[in-house]
Amino acid sequence: MDELVIKSKIKDFKVKFVDNTNFLKEMFTIPHYVVFVGSIVHEFYKEKIFDRFPNEKMIVMKLDEEKKTIDTAIKLYKKLMTKQGKKNLTMISFGGGINQDIAGFVASTLYRGINWIYVPTTLLAMADSSIGLKTSLNFGSIKNMIGSFYPPTEVYIDINFLKTLKRQDYASGVGEIMKLLLMKEDSSKNLAKIVEKVEILDCQEDKKRMIEIIKEAMQIKLSYMEGDEFDKGRRNLLNYGHEFGHALEPASDYQVPHGIAIVIGMIFANYISVKRKWMRSKLFDYLNENIFIPYMRRSMIKLKKDFFKPSTLLANMKKDKKRESSDLVLILPKENLNLCKVQDLTIQEFETGLREVQKILIF
Ligand SMILES: NC(=O)c1ccc[n+]([C@@H]2O[C@H](COP(=O)([O-])OP(=O)(O)OC[C@H]3O[C@@H](n4cnc5c(N)ncnc54)[C@H](O)[C@@H]3O)[C@@H](O)[C@H]2O)c1
Ligand SMILES: [Zn+2]
Repeated sequence: MDELVIKSKIKDFKVKFVDNTNFLKEMFTIPHYVVFVGSIVHEFYKEKIFDRFPNEKMIVMKLDEEKKTIDTAIKLYKKLMTKQGKKNLTMISFGGGINQDIAGFVASTLYRGINWIYVPTTLLAMADSSIGLKTSLNFGSIKNMIGSFYPPTEVYIDINFLKTLKRQDYASGVGEIMKLLLMKEDSSKNLAKIVEKVEILDCQEDKKRMIEIIKEAMQIKLSYMEGDEFDKGRRNLLNYGHEFGHALEPASDYQVPHGIAIVIGMIFANYISVKRKWMRSKLFDYLNENIFIPYMRRSMIKLKKDFFKPSTLLANMKKDKKRESSDLVLILPKENLNLCKVQDLTIQEFETGLREVQKILIF
């Protein structure tokens, strides 16, 4: 089987690339397990996957960004506590980043940790979040405020799940992969290759190349996590595009999916860098014209003026976990797209960046 071993200070784990439902056989032999899945994914794969598990092993819940809360975690604790196995229980969760965040949080805290097998079903979860070790819950309108670090026991990646994803949810994964490709060393010298990879992901025909690109994205992410698994330094840079993106997601009532919001966040950050003379306008224009704008068009996202209320976005950005002083925090690209973290983003810069984003995205 094609697999990667992810090293973690908590516990190493394997990511297995699979291409049919044979991998389920291994799950039926686990002594005490439950399957946790959101109702949408359950509906799509009811016959093919979920009807094969006994009814009493299934936990199906309606999951969305607004349900990524402690209340949903409590509901799940209650259901799991009725199951046999206690600390020996294995939760097998199927879904995107929302399922992963809730399942991971509950798995890490119930009985101080139960086994958790994760089967990502979105592109974003496959290429990015499944190896990030982070679990998160939202608190009020603040994204990912509560959480823990907890590796799954195993991850199974089957890209056949991607066929049923909505266009915007698929695009969200492409957005996060684009960010990772741009974070690779020397990416600014290989921009044409990034354009080509994004096209391969978009047309979804070449499965072999798609898996290679997913693996490449994972390796880039791992290179930033190496030596900083718990996000105290270099790993922070993975938040490129996320400060503005995380502010935009709740400001749009989660109508803008995570990966699309962070692409808008990258345009915002890049413009601040241009203004600080840290990024050449030529590079800024190239990225917009060849990567970001075509991507936004293909994502079919409808951006409404309402999503971009300065006061809401600013208030949300002020809640950033990384913020230590009265100014705002931002990951900014410097020469050749090398990233750095600044703690001194001013309100004026925020306003200038916001105006430019709106101008570029055509309002
Ligand atoms: N823990 C981390 O490290 C981490 C990293 C990045 C993002 N995240 C979080 O992940 C979330 C976004 O995750 P996501 O982009 O995977 O989306 P998601 O989990 O919100 O799923 C998007 C939509 O697609 C549906 N869906 C999932 N798989 C499907 C499939 N195969 N076919 C049809 N529909 C399917 C879901 O039910 C949902 O409606 C955000 O909450 C974000 O904060 C977490
Ligand atoms: Zn992200």
